[in-house]
Amino acid sequence: MKIFLDTADVAEIREYAASGLVDGVTTNPSLAAKTGRDYVESLKEICSIVPGAVSGEVLATDYDGMMKEAAVLTKIAKNIAVKVPLTWDGLKACAALAKDGTMVNVTLCFSPVQAWMAAKAGASFISPFIGRVDDAGEDGMGLIRDIRAIYDNYGFKTEILAASIRSISHVRECLLAGADVGTMPSDIFKKLISHPLTDKGLAAFVADAKKANVVIKG
Ligand code: E4P
Repeated sequence: MKIFLDTADVAEIREYAASGLVDGVTTNPSLAAKTGRDYVESLKEICSIVPGAVSGEVLATDYDGMMKEAAVLTKIAKNIAVKVPLTWDGLKACAALAKDGTMVNVTLCFSPVQAWMAAKAGASFISPFIGRVDDAGEDGMGLIRDIRAIYDNYGFKTEILAASIRSISHVRECLLAGADVGTMPSDIFKKLISHPLTDKGLAAFVADAKKANVVIKG
């Protein structure tokens, strides 16, 4: 499963991408608003930091407006993915952009049937929102599993980009369910390798080596 960071904060992306483990980035208008920066300028920088897809979301809600904004976004870099909402206009834009070879991420997916329609429209990525589905009292992980089954049944190549990830359990379940990508805020990314027994074990190794003067000589 590829790891994407779910943020528009360039400094944060730079910091975590230095690990070499960040494959791509997803942004949305709310995340862009938090930065207080020009959205296109931020996207330009982000595209130069990570090797994989960087989602830049259209702000327009009508087909013509989306296509105009997509023309600006696609000029940013080769690794830009135009993010469109799961509406009729969004799917129409998805189909037109995909036909021209543009990567499209269809966002705000809350049902397996919506995901099927996005795949039919040629989406490169579908973004089901796990946390928001859970918040609505439904089963976010069930949504990922259902989409995996549907895409596998019919051989769709659209990548399942599990979004709205709120916990390490979400990440674990996405891995087990066969999601292609997990996008997560940096506080979740940081926690991916945390385990108290790792910290405890390392502290003991360091202390024991120091006590007995164990060294590695060249
Ligand atoms: C990603 O593409 C989505 O915009 C994001 O994961 C939504 O997460 P949230 O529900 O925590 O806002």
